[in-house]
Amino acid sequence: MRTRTLRTSASAVLLAVCLTACGQEARGGSRYKPDDGKGGTIGLAMPTKASERWIADGENMAEQFKKAGYETDLQYGDDKVENQVAQLENMITKGHRLLVVAAIDGSALTDVLDRAHEAGIPVISYDRLILGTPNVDYYASFDNERVGELQGRYIVDRLGLGEPEKGTDETFNVELFAGSPDDNNTKYFWNGAMKVLKPYLDTGQIVVPSGQKRMSQATTLRWDGGTAQKRMDDLISKNYGDREVDAVLSPYDGISIGVISALKSAGYSGKDLPVVTGQDAELASVKSVIRGEQTQTVFKDTRKLAAQAVRMGDAVLHGRKPKVNNTTDYDNGKKTVPAFLLKPVSVDRKNTDLLVREGYFTTGQLK
Ligand code: GAL
Repeated sequence: MRTRTLRTSASAVLLAVCLTACGQEARGGSRYKPDDGKGGTIGLAMPTKASERWIADGENMAEQFKKAGYETDLQYGDDKVENQVAQLENMITKGHRLLVVAAIDGSALTDVLDRAHEAGIPVISYDRLILGTPNVDYYASFDNERVGELQGRYIVDRLGLGEPEKGTDETFNVELFAGSPDDNNTKYFWNGAMKVLKPYLDTGQIVVPSGQKRMSQATTLRWDGGTAQKRMDDLISKNYGDREVDAVLSPYDGISIGVISALKSAGYSGKDLPVVTGQDAELASVKSVIRGEQTQTVFKDTRKLAAQAVRMGDAVLHGRKPKVNNTTDYDNGKKTVPAFLLKPVSVDRKNTDLLVREGYFTTGQLK
């Protein structure tokens, strides 16, 4: 009985919101009602606190939205799809004005975003593209393919490979890791890296002794470092009895940490460690880069991404068209989502000072 009453009142709220907001044409072509007065609550749905970047993303957005005059409701889904769906449902029921979502599973939000649409609530896809729904208005991210290119290029350069060349004697053993199969970014990172590595795989200058060269064989569910560590343990024990790992393509710092642990357990240390890439410039990994363990990471300034999402959200809520710089590449299966992409930067031992100059970390933190 109680449940039924609650359901009825939730639908009544949705209906009331819809009557005031749905189907109206805003200035600048948005399908949401323009509102020149500030205020209301912004729902921020982030995937997990397991990685410090998402904590920073959430906090940065909350701070910046507050400065722009909004309240915020920041939720973390603990990497469980059902938690994130429930959090979004709750935000819709509460009548939040805008949802900013970094999806745990990009394809799992269709139903809940139908409800957001019915309630006239705009949606910004944050860092990861939400798939399979027309109900995503804008996408704020980094140039994800470029991230993969930077990682692939770093491996090629550090191994001293020049132009791809047939018939050279020197071959390098490289193992490949990919991100979570349910994250749309995974394929962009992989394709970017493969754009650079494939010509060397074709000439045989790079070999993958495990034979696991397809993205589907290399994915790491939920980007989990422990899962990556187990896979790397297994790859080493089955394929490296009489050879050495020269490089590992890792798409994310948390995966790199797992990979490096497996390498250390197998006896690699100091200068014997292979080239290991990464992404996110997480503090522990930048320190590892400085110590000479992880070799590279890709810096994506989460403060700038948060600022971008806040600018987009504020524009949408005021009936203005947000500035975008990509209107062709981010097709989510139902629409091409207008996107603003920021530039990623490769960081290794030689340029970690950039992170201090940019105010991302203090010198003290990097000690
Ligand atoms: C991706 C994101 C990466 C990394 C990864 C794991 O979607 O683009 O920067 O954070 O998730 O959290």
